[in-house]
Amino acid sequence: MKTRLTELIGIKHPIIQAGMAWVSFAPLAAAVSNAGGLGILAAGAMSPEDLETNIRQVKALTDKPFGVNFLPDNPRLEELLDIIVGEKVNVASYGIGNPARIIGRTKPAGIINMPTMGSLRHAVKAEQDGADIVVVQGTEAGGHSSYVASSVLVPLVVDHVHIPVVAAGGFSDGRGLVAALAWGAVGVSMGTRFLLTRECPVAENIKDYYLTACEEDTVITGHNTGVRCRILRNKLAEAFLSLEEKKAPARTIMELGLGRFRRAFMEGDAEWGSMAAGQVIGRIRDIPTCQELIDRIMNEADATLASLRGRVSAVSSA
Ligand SMILES: Cc1cc2nc3c(=O)[nH]c(=O)nc-3n(C[C@H](O)[C@H](O)[C@H](O)COP(=O)(O)O)c2cc1C
Repeated sequence: MKTRLTELIGIKHPIIQAGMAWVSFAPLAAAVSNAGGLGILAAGAMSPEDLETNIRQVKALTDKPFGVNFLPDNPRLEELLDIIVGEKVNVASYGIGNPARIIGRTKPAGIINMPTMGSLRHAVKAEQDGADIVVVQGTEAGGHSSYVASSVLVPLVVDHVHIPVVAAGGFSDGRGLVAALAWGAVGVSMGTRFLLTRECPVAENIKDYYLTACEEDTVITGHNTGVRCRILRNKLAEAFLSLEEKKAPARTIMELGLGRFRRAFMEGDAEWGSMAAGQVIGRIRDIPTCQELIDRIMNEADATLASLRGRVSAVSSA
């Protein structure tokens, strides 16, 4: 399936594996790129040295395009950008923060800039700053969460920008991909779905914990810190919510969050680790390989399009 996304980046399928700190290391990113999607390394928790090592690992595993996701407020941002530019990474992905500085640094080097935004005004600003693609993330998404659902935000942004829009937050299958295309997006970006794949290197007991969660098992924490994050309900999530209810200082809440992704994903602590997850977890019940997942999504998308044509013509001729 060709869209503006596949053409611009040079990938086979309009499917992106979203950057996930402590989750999307080289094996996952390379597996997605090899399967025809866009794999993205997450540098959120990496030193510049770790990032360089991971980029070289991806390049050893695939010759396909891939991206790097990072946090614009990283104190070593300039060093990260040096590596991203020096290694000629295909796509730069980042969320919170002002993209202008990053675009100014990476775009002249031929790197495609694809920030993730959670509101119309930020998406419009990203286009004005020179972004090539904008990922629009609805409130369903795992991790840093916006306020508006993907079903509203994606078509809203599509109507207000000229650059290609990728839909994120709540996608896991071919029906979702077709819905995103119907809203005017050029593809989907998925985090939670790719966390539940064989190549994803998080602790197995953590994957099992995700698989038992339903669509109502995520909560948004960080309402009064400015860093809202959708995570799976566990003892840590309850502790966050209780502190927020007591109007604890933002600093106390931020301190409680330190090192918690690592604790879950690397150390396997499902009670006191932080497990970012989207509401779509309620629809995910298996752990396929990335190739199986992407092939399945594309087959479902084809079947959905065919069945839609059939259903619409059946209704119009009735
Ligand atoms: C475990 C996990 C970790 C994440 N870490 C990051 C991150 O480091 N940087 C980032 O920009 N977004 C991060 N996100 C958000 C994803 O990039 C993506 O936008 C989101 O997962 C899409 O929603 P979905 O989970 O419904 O697919 C994370 C999401 C998850 C589930």
